[in-house]
Amino acid sequence: MKRPGGTEEQKRRAGESAARAVSDGDVVGLGTGSTAAVAIRALGRRVDSGLDVRGVPTSYQSRALARDAGIPLTTLDDALPDVAIDGADQIAGLERDGPADVIKGGGAAHAREKIVDAAADRFVVVADPTKLADDLDAPVPIEVLSDAVSVVESALVALGGEPTLRAAERKDGPVVTENGNLVVDCGFGAIGDPASLADGIAALPGVVEHGLFVGMVDEVHVGVADGVEVYPRES
Ligand code: 5RP
Repeated sequence: MKRPGGTEEQKRRAGESAARAVSDGDVVGLGTGSTAAVAIRALGRRVDSGLDVRGVPTSYQSRALARDAGIPLTTLDDALPDVAIDGADQIAGLERDGPADVIKGGGAAHAREKIVDAAADRFVVVADPTKLADDLDAPVPIEVLSDAVSVVESALVALGGEPTLRAAERKDGPVVTENGNLVVDCGFGAIGDPASLADGIAALPGVVEHGLFVGMVDEVHVGVADGVEVYPRES
């Protein structure tokens, strides 16, 4: 579920910083959402200036943006990403040792995002400061086969969750993902053990993919008022 985000300037700083981290010859996973879109456009400008990259889109939106920006595209069948740049709905654990945990799926693209982001050698998250939290406590987006929604919702309640089928905004009925499935947003309160919750949700029959990205993130670029903060911080 999308929540009101930060400023355009903060997103611009984060996205442009991540685009600068791409090297000549890289295959780049292209994330979804407004902050990843900034990175895609910035990468397109670098391609205009001669950078040789190929992009692997994570959604219809990122594919369309990349085509518009002049970024040549490829698929996971042909090349694995050297780096993936993607947004997040919530980020926790930035200051501890080890990877930050994130919740994704506000745009209902988290199934393809997880495949591309996990396949990359380096997964870079771009965000504004409104996404940062001490603990993950945002609802977790869960893509579910339509026939399985009731049984998955009951199982999520048994896991301590409060599931809500995501409603479409400019269509009657639920959001339908690009894979033809539905999305259940499930609140769990503060998530003390994201890895164990991720395993519990993934084990439910009918769940296609959930938006907990645990142990995957290599870097986080946060756009702030006067620059960019990059985690893990250089010591
Ligand atoms: C899409 C996502 C997005 O990356 C996430 O919702 C963040 O988007 P934005 O940068 O617009 O806040 O996970 O499924």
